[in-house]
Amino acid sequence: MVSEHARCLVVDDEPRLRQVLVHLMQNDGFTCREAGNGAEALEILQREPMPLVLSDLRMPRIDGIELLRQTRMRYPDTAVVMITAVADVEVAVSCLAMGAMDYLTKPFHLEEVRARVTQALEKRRLILENRDYQERLEERVAVQARRLEELFLASVQSLAEALEVKDPYTRGHSIRVSHLSSAIARTMELDIEMVRQIELGGQVHDIGKIGVREAVLNKPGALTEEEYAHIMTHPLVGWRILAPLLGEAPMALNIVRSHHERWDGRGMPDRLAGDAIPLEARITAVADSFDAMTSGRPYRGAQMGIADAIAEVERCSGTQFDPAVVRAFLAAIESGAIPAAVPAI
Ligand SMILES: [Fe+2]
Repeated sequence: MVSEHARCLVVDDEPRLRQVLVHLMQNDGFTCREAGNGAEALEILQREPMPLVLSDLRMPRIDGIELLRQTRMRYPDTAVVMITAVADVEVAVSCLAMGAMDYLTKPFHLEEVRARVTQALEKRRLILENRDYQERLEERVAVQARRLEELFLASVQSLAEALEVKDPYTRGHSIRVSHLSSAIARTMELDIEMVRQIELGGQVHDIGKIGVREAVLNKPGALTEEEYAHIMTHPLVGWRILAPLLGEAPMALNIVRSHHERWDGRGMPDRLAGDAIPLEARITAVADSFDAMTSGRPYRGAQMGIADAIAEVERCSGTQFDPAVVRAFLAAIESGAIPAAVPAI
């Protein structure tokens, strides 16, 4: 049955036919407004939005088709049912394609009008409910995505803090690598989402060192072969730790795994070569090595000057590093995007 507050607008240029329909609708509990053509109908709709419009096709001034078009555009929540003579059925069907909910043929039969109107309103209700549900769902998904990101960053943060306790060098190094990689990525004009993931990847690229023995991590001077092999497990260890967390940031995850790969295929852990190494990891590799050289990592030996480190990066272009990334790195230094004297953090 129709609700108490059911309202409808009946649009027909023949007063007698309009009256028949209005009576019929009123008997079914509707409050009706009447209009003699499309222009009048639009005026009424502007003052008083209606859930339902029953409209004739042929009318002076604005006809039924134009009224349908404008109603769909301005009042998409209004259900429009077209009224047609039997001869107009083809036009009525094309009105369905334009968004009419249904059509009625003259002369009217009480049961048919009732069935079509009930159906049209039910369809409208479902459409509105569906849209409302969709909107609420999208809102909930967005809230949960934000929450997930917060939780993710909090867990990464706690891992980073745990690593800092073991290896005080790492935090400053990770932030510097994040900044350097970001400057290279921006110089290469990569899209903003990729830059964001490269920044994140830089921050967490060494997280796997949490699994490296402290004595090895902080050993002054050169490492034995076994110690070096042990330290170089960190890309895979980090990848295993972060894989369940970094579903939304696969490029950051690639950085964790592949930042020690080499352009010539002699890197670790997968011995990838050239373009097979994800670009984000090729970028981080340059940033990581440059920072390690300029900040003096225990197992890397003495700290280098900036100019010597730049020369070393250039020397390794095409062997350790992707030449295109090295060019971007040099351009970033040239433009000042990477300060020639990188401030210690
Ligand atoms: Fe590393």
